[in-house]
Amino acid sequence: MSATDATTKRAEQRAAAVADAMDDIAKINAHGREHGGIDRDGVERIRERLLQLAERDDLFPLEDFPPPAEGRSASMYRIAQNHDDELALYVQSVLDGTAAPPHEHTTWAVIVGMRGQELNRFYDRCAGEGEPQAVREVMVARGTGVAMLGHDLHSIHIEGASTNFHCYGLALERLKGRRFWHADEGEWREYYDVGHIVEARPGYATSPA
Ligand SMILES: [Fe+2]
Repeated sequence: MSATDATTKRAEQRAAAVADAMDDIAKINAHGREHGGIDRDGVERIRERLLQLAERDDLFPLEDFPPPAEGRSASMYRIAQNHDDELALYVQSVLDGTAAPPHEHTTWAVIVGMRGQELNRFYDRCAGEGEPQAVREVMVARGTGVAMLGHDLHSIHIEGASTNFHCYGLALERLKGRRFWHADEGEWREYYDVGHIVEARPGYATSPA
């Protein structure tokens, strides 16, 4: 098989695996909605389903999801997003370290590791309630993941290169009015940073990494 054939076959297998996972996640999300909104059990089930997808890390090699060139810390490859922008799945590819201050998402969020390490810290309160204190941390790497509800706060600390799944109940560019803790100013501020999103869904024109 030529290198091009192998790349095409991998893309097909990846598209099928992602579609299967997102079908399952859509069912979990819909079930949560019918019961007044997704809860901890629901996001845990999504985390478990994405851990299963991450076992196929051979379908998500670095050559298909390269980190950005110098000057940017990370690229967010959008590999799935449904018709109304709900249920967005990204492959985050980090070049050499990146960080995000304590922030909320205003929708559920799940992060699952494939390569490298992403330290997640969790905090003792919700946005807008004064200075957050870290109470727990989880190192996300291959075989581990974290799940959050909309008001949960976390911060991200990555050293070196990493490749992870980031999945949200609403596409990143649709998340409005979320807040982060600005440590230098000692206040909560609106969080606009959605990172560098790269279109990578099957059938869509790709955008620059
Ligand atoms: Fe986050």
